[in-house]
Amino acid sequence: MGLAGGQQARLSPALPPPRRQAGASSRRQGKAGIITGVQAAPDFSSRLIAWQGRHGRHDLPWQGSREPYRIWVSEIMLQQTQVAAVIPYYQRFMARFPDVATLAAATLDEVLAHWSGLGYYARARHLHATACQVMAVHAGRFPDRSELLQELPGIGRSTAAAIAAFARGERAAILDGNVRRVLARHFAIEGFPGAPKVQAAMWQLAESLLPDTDIEAYTQGLMDLGATVCTRARPRCSACPLAASCSARASDAVARYPAPRPAHARPERRVMLWLLRSRAADGGLRCLLERRPPAGVWGGLWSLPEHLPDGLRVDAIPAGPALHLTHGFTHFVLHITAEQRHVVADPAPAGHGVREHGDLRWCRQAQLAEFGLPAPIRLLLDTAFAADSARPASRPGR
Ligand code: ADE
Repeated sequence: MGLAGGQQARLSPALPPPRRQAGASSRRQGKAGIITGVQAAPDFSSRLIAWQGRHGRHDLPWQGSREPYRIWVSEIMLQQTQVAAVIPYYQRFMARFPDVATLAAATLDEVLAHWSGLGYYARARHLHATACQVMAVHAGRFPDRSELLQELPGIGRSTAAAIAAFARGERAAILDGNVRRVLARHFAIEGFPGAPKVQAAMWQLAESLLPDTDIEAYTQGLMDLGATVCTRARPRCSACPLAASCSARASDAVARYPAPRPAHARPERRVMLWLLRSRAADGGLRCLLERRPPAGVWGGLWSLPEHLPDGLRVDAIPAGPALHLTHGFTHFVLHITAEQRHVVADPAPAGHGVREHGDLRWCRQAQLAEFGLPAPIRLLLDTAFAADSARPASRPGR
């Protein structure tokens, strides 16, 4: 399983360039028709800050602390994931890994198990790698300057800016998906925001809009506005503090922005996995898990084997119907077929610890939470265990 992809976009000639000097009043920059964000909407930031104070979010579990470690964990979890989904994960994660030293000392497996279900597992691997790097390179003090933060695994420019803004009030611009949508609409920016030229221009615009003070409220306000008002579907323009200067709204074209990713069909892939079953001494069902290689799709997570492990023999007759599942990755669509078979001979050391070590492990239903499992694999296992529990008690064995 591997990744592929690409994108195209068109940049609007009307997209404003950066303000030359942050905080200074904006001027025409020589070229006719080119404006700065500040010139287009002089009180953009002050309206947003005032709105954040009254209508923004103030009681999220990662707010109220300037500790960069806590803020960093939240920002990584919030990449591609909504606040409501993140909160219970964040609370469990913080209870288990309250500081960077604890996270660095944990095994990657344990970190992945706490991440299981959140998706985009590279984030969890980067989190662990970053914790180790902070211990080794920064003597355990989590950096709070955006410049240093960007050198750590998994922390891009926008995430670094968010952490630095919340941890020390640094004047740094964020540009995540929600912010791109707000800017694309407000300034009627043409072109797919993920396209390099559009993105570069949006960064300049985002910087030109930064206020001189209240950067935390401004940053949180942009996030909150994108998440609760200027939403992708059914935006609530009547509740928007920026509506009066919103170009998309003025031309009744909010739905046109931001331009969608140029259509290209995602390639389809197929994979056959083995859902290998055996019974523990007490008759309980166990399924065999295999750890994926560290790089690539689901790197480091536990999955079902793609090939029969050496020496292991399975019944020729399926132990249940083949299970089918389709999972969409960003760059391709994966069709999974899981063949269920009962294992009749397993050469792994038996006794008290049958496959308790290494990259192949037997897993019982009660142990599922101990493994970092991609959501589709968890679903397949849940299906197999649920079917087994529903099995009439009188039917023997497999
Ligand atoms: N999305 C990204 N970062 C966030 C934050 N700190 N609060 C709310 N939503 C966010």
